[in-house]
Amino acid sequence: MTDPKITPSVLVQVEPDNPAPIGDQIYANLRSSILEGVLTGGSRLPSGRALAAQLGVARGTIRVAYDRLAAEGLIFGAGSAGTKVSSKLPPQPLEHEELWDRPLAGFTRPYSSFPLPFQVGVPAHDAFPTKVWERMRSRAVRTDALSYTTYADPRGEPELRKQIASHLAVSRQIQCHPDQIIVTSGYRQGLTLTLMALQAKGRKVWLEEPGYPLGRRALELAGLTVVPIPVDMEGINVEIGIAQAADALIALVTPGQQAPLGVTLSSNRRRDLLKWARTQNAWIVEDDYLGELQLDGRAKSALASGDGAERVIHIGTFSKTMSPSLGLGFMVVPKLVTEKFVEIAAVMLPAPNRTTQLAMAEFLADGHFLRHLRQMKDLYFVRREKAMTHLSKSFPQIKESGLGLIAFCSETVDDVMLVAAAREQGLAPSPLSSWYITANNKRGLILSITNLNTNNIANACGTLNDVIEAQIKA
Ligand SMILES: Cc1ncc(COP(=O)(O)O)c(C=O)c1O
Repeated sequence: MTDPKITPSVLVQVEPDNPAPIGDQIYANLRSSILEGVLTGGSRLPSGRALAAQLGVARGTIRVAYDRLAAEGLIFGAGSAGTKVSSKLPPQPLEHEELWDRPLAGFTRPYSSFPLPFQVGVPAHDAFPTKVWERMRSRAVRTDALSYTTYADPRGEPELRKQIASHLAVSRQIQCHPDQIIVTSGYRQGLTLTLMALQAKGRKVWLEEPGYPLGRRALELAGLTVVPIPVDMEGINVEIGIAQAADALIALVTPGQQAPLGVTLSSNRRRDLLKWARTQNAWIVEDDYLGELQLDGRAKSALASGDGAERVIHIGTFSKTMSPSLGLGFMVVPKLVTEKFVEIAAVMLPAPNRTTQLAMAEFLADGHFLRHLRQMKDLYFVRREKAMTHLSKSFPQIKESGLGLIAFCSETVDDVMLVAAAREQGLAPSPLSSWYITANNKRGLILSITNLNTNNIANACGTLNDVIEAQIKA
């Protein structure tokens, strides 16, 4: 029996205008012919020399393409019978419809997309220190490429941990050893590590009401019983917490600037919360998502500073101060439990990408981070003032909160519908009601001002005013 010989011109079409290298085109052509069944198992490919002559390319180019196909198991060398298409093709990735139907729809926008006006939780896109960061990262890529091919420290790079410890001492008054710091991919990893280390599954956790919805979902997924504790002008109401669940293992709080209401935990409440944790052997998880990025006055020191810090797990992130796309955060763990946390980091949740860590270490060491924060505070302050001026007519009950505003609405307003209408106009506020667990009459819009700049602020606020007017009249 003779092998079906294939004419080269049938197989491969090289397009001179195609910007892809010729070798890649040859490889891709052959590959799709094989996968689509145009070339069937056992078919013999032309010799490298014949195909090279036919296409007017070097024989080496054909060899490289054939080698790639052979490495994928699509063709094989059959000795004197030449090169043949494999009879049994290796499995290929499935082409499928979307399998994940976004259980958090409404809270998260499509990932890696351009930030929209009023979008909560993302810093200013137009103020990222691109040039300096690019420089630091390029240097870090080189350093990393030259490093040993061994495992990196699962706690994070020593230099970064040292820089974070120094920074926290100045900015958050936290006095800790760099060995108490674990570098993470952000808040979510910090929280996961904490819940594992504290063996929290099945236990109760106090959660601020209202509170960060994705944090709540994380607690539910980790098998904790969430006990919503109301927040008032002094922050979480510790007395109610004790009355409702004194035996909780954890209180998860945002004491610096409560998310989303923006209030700072009062001194009395701080004292009561720390006392509860001490007497109950409970833990306070301090979600310090904004760190010292506070627009009004100086940020109060962290809960993890001073007396009682031995019951506080402090979780920080660079998502708001720099960018969530870096995927970088950190935590400060009390000395007594450091070993447990580090063990989990080492075997399950190691610190992320070393290159980003090295770049951030240099960014901190050279003073760029502090400078950037100062600039962001000034910038956001101005943006918030301007937004307030634009919006206060449509929203008489509007208040400053963190890096944004909360526009409280009357209880008859459906804030989820309002947000849907705003989304249609390219705006991304968040509905206040979704930040509550218990049914109540709180309605409003959470409006981040970080991405309102001189080019879009008037338009974005004008459109939002129109949306509210249309909805309220309807
Ligand atoms: C209150 C709060 N905590 C934590 C985070 C998330 O931080 P990370 O990006 O580090 O997971 C956010 C993000 O919006 C937040 O609003």
